[in-house]
Amino acid sequence: MNIKAENINLEHPIPPLGARGRLTVVGAGPGDVDLITLKAIKAIESADVILYDALINEELLKYASQDVELIFVGKRKGCYAFQQEQINELIVSKAKEKGHVVRLKGGDPFIFGRGAEEIDYVKPFGLETFVVPGISSSVAVPAYQGIPLTKRGVSESFWVITGTTKAHKLSEDVAIAAKSTATIVILMGMGKLDDIVRIFSEENKQDTAIAIIQDGTTENEKVGFGTISTISKVVAEKQLANPAIIIIGDVVKERVKLTSVFEEVNQNL
Ligand SMILES: C[S@@+](CC[C@H](N)C(=O)[O-])C[C@H]1O[C@@H](n2cnc3c(N)ncnc32)[C@H](O)[C@@H]1O
Repeated sequence: MNIKAENINLEHPIPPLGARGRLTVVGAGPGDVDLITLKAIKAIESADVILYDALINEELLKYASQDVELIFVGKRKGCYAFQQEQINELIVSKAKEKGHVVRLKGGDPFIFGRGAEEIDYVKPFGLETFVVPGISSSVAVPAYQGIPLTKRGVSESFWVITGTTKAHKLSEDVAIAAKSTATIVILMGMGKLDDIVRIFSEENKQDTAIAIIQDGTTENEKVGFGTISTISKVVAEKQLANPAIIIIGDVVKERVKLTSVFEEVNQNL
């Protein structure tokens, strides 16, 4: 792909940088490099400093200017490069020193992305603050596997829940959701799969369909399908691990067959 954002006539371009320093919190999409918005590309292009997370596709950094300062602030091999407080401070100091800081985050920055927390932190320091929404893994990853999160006559709503709260516990919302007929999408839930299976089993939902998708929308994508009672075995067999999302509900059985993006790419080689 060779899109130059300056050639695209955006109705709402990134405004000129004032003297105060700026933070733009940008959603990088779920992994496929093409699932980025034009506005996000514009923001990346105009950044003086980019603080980026582990889940972003680093290919996106090619849109940055040659003079940009790139700082990885994510988690690798279970270790955080920076604590959240250090990231917050870095945003402020870099914005004051260099101008425009882009905080590049996986998916959408306001869906379990701490985007709002970072904006809250920098506001008292007088920075201009903008957000560029991104395509969240919670919707894009199921879609790439042909799973519609809602379907007429099958599912009237979907919940997106965290498997791991601030206190490292499974969200209590999972138990409430398990009583409903909604489609349930759980992020950061792999470490709590046994609890999730137990909660749904207690609601007599052993036969409910479930899908687990790891590294969705990327060429490393791995999937496992089953029911509440079989999924643990599927996960062990396929060695599914983070980053993955869990989708529970009848819509999993409504999966439509799509031509794999990667299959098509390979055929064209
Ligand atoms: C801290 S949350 C961030 C979510 C992100 N803000 C979003 O909107 O997608 C990280 C979790 O999102 C899910 N996730 C993000 N990207 C994913 C991907 N490409 N495939 C599967 N799960 C993904 C995983 O559950 C992962 O542990």
